[in-house]
Amino acid sequence: ASGRVLVVGSLNADLVVRTPRIPSPGETVTGSDLVIVPGGKSSNQAAAIGKLGGDVALLGCVGDDGNGTMLLDSLRESGVDVSHVQVLQGVATGSAMIAVDDSGENCIIVSPGANGRLSAVDVEAADEFFDTAGDSSMLTLCLEVSIDAVKAAAREAHERGARVVLNLSPYAKVGADVLDLADLLVVNAHELADLTEQPDFEPLGDWTAVVEATRAALGESGPRTVVVTLGADGARTIDLDSGEVSDQIPSPKITPVDTTGAGDAFLASLAYRLASGDDLSTACAFAVRVGAYAATGEGAQKSYPTADQLENWAP
Ligand code: RIB
Ligand code: NA
Repeated sequence: ASGRVLVVGSLNADLVVRTPRIPSPGETVTGSDLVIVPGGKSSNQAAAIGKLGGDVALLGCVGDDGNGTMLLDSLRESGVDVSHVQVLQGVATGSAMIAVDDSGENCIIVSPGANGRLSAVDVEAADEFFDTAGDSSMLTLCLEVSIDAVKAAAREAHERGARVVLNLSPYAKVGADVLDLADLLVVNAHELADLTEQPDFEPLGDWTAVVEATRAALGESGPRTVVVTLGADGARTIDLDSGEVSDQIPSPKITPVDTTGAGDAFLASLAYRLASGDDLSTACAFAVRVGAYAATGEGAQKSYPTADQLENWAP
């Protein structure tokens, strides 16, 4: 049996328009019809695990509007325990304005709405939620809710022996008080460049300098493991204690349709497999496959696989 995964953070309605190319500042382009689908990094993470058949619960906030209802219905259908998602009166559900171009790349603006109301006090009050965590559990966090809420969640989970996975997305500088509570950091190439202030590293090259810069950025008592997602190039892991960098964990070759939420699917399935007892490289290989699968379909949660779909997938 797999340990429970707790997810604390954001839920967004994704307002998606496809367009041949992403507009430059000041430019107007015409796109497809608008579609509104379930999204938000934390909600995506929870949905990914639920769909794979994992035991997962989400804590966060939506507003009392149609988008909030859509998100909750869809998460329930994906098998997520949403009993700790609060519905706030008179507040808009978080939303994300997303443009997706013909190559499947996207550009996103997030409006936090109800996500901005999740406070450290709300998190600390959720004993019932955190009490389901044990030492085989994982907590996943992103930066779409306040850093105080993130920190409170990390502390609650850490106290119960759960491992904490932190995704520095959307990127923000995070203090040692938060980093010290994280066991594992997950970043994409942009976020790694921001974190290390080294924009020019070679994804598949020698990472000696990257390791040094990551150590300097995270400090001695920060997370000891960093997983870097590299899009079509898969992922690599860094063990900060030994300084060892993994070989490339390659991604299956796919033609991307929409990469929105592929990173969330990666992170979530990584946490799910770690909670099931996999070692890091086995869990990463699984997660890369889930991320690639997600990029082959439209939307975020809508494109995530069930365990059967993943097993029968031959890209
Ligand atoms: O990571 C993808 C997600 O980022 C989207 O679903 C959107 O809601 C934004 O939060
Ligand atoms: Na997708």
